[in-house]
Amino acid sequence: APNGYLRPEGSPPAVIAHRGASAAAPENTLVAQEVARRANADWIEIDVRPSRDGVPFVLHDATVDRTTDGTGPIRNLTAVQLKALDAGSWFAPQYAGTTLPTLVEQLADLRTRGGNLLLEIKGAHTREEVATIVRVIREQRMSQRVFVQSFDVAALRYTRELAPELPIGLLRGSLDADPVAVAEDLGLTAYNPSGKALLTRPEVVADLHEAGVAVMVWTIDSANQWRSLEQAGVDGIITNRPAELAGWNAAY
Ligand code: G3P
Ligand code: CA
Repeated sequence: APNGYLRPEGSPPAVIAHRGASAAAPENTLVAQEVARRANADWIEIDVRPSRDGVPFVLHDATVDRTTDGTGPIRNLTAVQLKALDAGSWFAPQYAGTTLPTLVEQLADLRTRGGNLLLEIKGAHTREEVATIVRVIREQRMSQRVFVQSFDVAALRYTRELAPELPIGLLRGSLDADPVAVAEDLGLTAYNPSGKALLTRPEVVADLHEAGVAVMVWTIDSANQWRSLEQAGVDGIITNRPAELAGWNAAY
């Protein structure tokens, strides 16, 4: 089947809001998701990690220290303990009382208010933990609006096996010698390198497109680089400044 995530001729790269609109609101919260929605982001990127009792939460770091008033690894804290944390005050006092979203809450919010999710499975996950994420996506009836990505090859293999209906993307900090071979081995829908890495060999975009694989790059906040990446033909750009990228795209 043709890859529906390839950028149509004549349209700009998709705007992907990194951790929600994370320059304007506390990252990876429902507030950040709402700001990204209002900024006309095509996708909202978030990071998912399990609690001690196996509940998928939306959090970037392995610990809650930086983005909440708690301390310690998320894997040491239960869902009840995590929901009691303040995930907004660290960013600005006006966000006091913002909580860490569970994946269920994040998806329910998207389903009712609109939007698509680029869901990063963050860090190593067991097959069981990936199965839980898949179950939540299906229970929320959001399979058509979720794209799974990860740096973790095993997590992507589990996702492919457990949920062939979900699109998957491999995150890379540097380019593989042969990105097409990697994409074909894993059955990737997208190959998602760092934008800086991609610009060292922009011709790989054409190779990947030829193989039917989309390219979404991270995390790029400057208009100069948006232009270079747009010219390289990327399908989506992950940014902390979705409103600005959407505005820049509007002039496309
Ligand atoms: O979406 C890719 C990008 O988010 C990867 O880096 O550390 O922000 O998760 P990080
Ligand atoms: Ca991420």
